Amino acid sequence: MSTARFLAFEGGEGAGKSTQARMLAAALAARGIASVVTREPGGTPGAEAIRALLLGTDGEGWNPRAEALLFAAARSDHVERLIRPALAQGQWVICDRFVDSSRAYQGGAGGLSDADVLALHRVGSEGLLPDLTLLIEVPPHVAAARTAARDGDATDRIGGRDAAYHARVAASFARLAEEEPQRFARIDGDGEAAVVHDRIMAALARFGVAP
Ligand code: TYD
Repeated sequence: MSTARFLAFEGGEGAGKSTQARMLAAALAARGIASVVTREPGGTPGAEAIRALLLGTDGEGWNPRAEALLFAAARSDHVERLIRPALAQGQWVICDRFVDSSRAYQGGAGGLSDADVLALHRVGSEGLLPDLTLLIEVPPHVAAARTAARDGDATDRIGGRDAAYHARVAASFARLAEEEPQRFARIDGDGEAAVVHDRIMAALARFGVAP
């Protein structure tokens, strides 16, 4: 049996991560590889409860530090109760967002230092990192059209931040990918879902997965 791998999808709003996560799980299954698809914030009952606190639009909202602590707490529960047990059982884990979202949103765009975000991750999740982070990149106008089609006017607390914030998020993701080229695969997310899926399968060749 091949080693179970931990794969994360990252990117801005409307990049197509959730669609690609589902397509990837189906492609792995067709190759005899069992996987679980999960998401952040969330993935376990406790983390989903924190998700509602983070993304709901009631109340005053959170400052970037409180936000980073809540994401780290949700991630801690998710890692301990779902991600590590699945990997230990030999299942691949496909996670829609992981710690690099905290580094890009609360860090680069929110103003926390990368060292602080990583310190919270070390405490919360013993610094667990994906074997591969698939960063799906799309031009801003494509992302805007997709989120408008999906969400209409109903956006969450973080998704609804202004274009300058989301531009900082995109720039932060790009910088992280440049700094860690082994762990990141940058995927051009512009195009039909099936075409993007093929690009993702090509990036998994390093794990011996047939394209
Ligand atoms: P969600 O609807 O799940 O994501 P998407 O917009 O990709 O479909 O919303 C998650 C939001 O939370 C999204 O705006 C990104 C943000 N986020 C952070 O700010 N930090 C984090 O660590 C994570 C996991 C998500």
